[in-house]
Amino acid sequence: MNLTVRRLLVDLKTPFARHWNGGCAFRTAFFNALSMSFPAGEQLFIDSVKLGVQQLPPETQARFAEEVRGFIGQEATHRRIHTLFNEQLAAQGYVNHWEGRIVKRRELMGKLEPRNWLAVTAATEHITAVFAEHLLAHPEVLQGAEPRLRDLWLWHSAEESEHRSTAFDLYTAAGGNHAWRVRIFRVVSFHFVTDVLRQTLHNLWRDGHWWRPATWAGGWRLLFGRSGLVRHSIGSWRRYLREDFHPAQGDGRAAEAWLAAHAELAPPVRSAA
Ligand SMILES: [Fe+2]
Ligand SMILES: [Fe+2]
Repeated sequence: MNLTVRRLLVDLKTPFARHWNGGCAFRTAFFNALSMSFPAGEQLFIDSVKLGVQQLPPETQARFAEEVRGFIGQEATHRRIHTLFNEQLAAQGYVNHWEGRIVKRRELMGKLEPRNWLAVTAATEHITAVFAEHLLAHPEVLQGAEPRLRDLWLWHSAEESEHRSTAFDLYTAAGGNHAWRVRIFRVVSFHFVTDVLRQTLHNLWRDGHWWRPATWAGGWRLLFGRSGLVRHSIGSWRRYLREDFHPAQGDGRAAEAWLAAHAELAPPVRSAA
């Protein structure tokens, strides 16, 4: 599969409003938390994929070479953009606690089998792809968001959807089995949910808005509302547990349409073709 690496032409040097996501404190805190995990998290995926590929036979490595280059290029671009976004958050007084936990996990890389790191990456990529699919299908999650930031989140979502199969296919090529894939997915999911909630709460606490009823009403709508993240995405999340699961079963059409419609905003820097 060819993955195009794109350059996102948005300005992240100009400060943005504290409640940039439609004025909603919870929605903003939640997205800010996710962004805080990305620079270290996506480096972990890049390192896992690089390490995992090295374990494959030369002919399999050759088969994946272009796709892996595209995957690394996309994730490296996401890292750079979210680093700029996070610099703005730091200037607003937010403290990133999640990143340190990811860096600690990264230190275990030499101790776990490379194949298991591919499973960690495939699991996280599934969670990311499910979130991306939700975001692209429910524009109200970013309703009223500052346009350049809405573009950033939709671009990232579209590329996550686009490369959602890469780590999974590498895990399979490395001989990874279903039982370990699912076991690791459960652990990754547990950490992901607790980490994102912890960081969201920290952000709200720093923000001074954690006690306002409107904050929690926004949180309820985002997570449990009629088209809320949990209600809408639990089925997609669970699909990963099936033995015949493959990420390509997810619906990538909204991502493809978004990328096609925003070619000027995110032009290719180099095609893997
Ligand atoms: Fe990414
Ligand atoms: Fe990704």
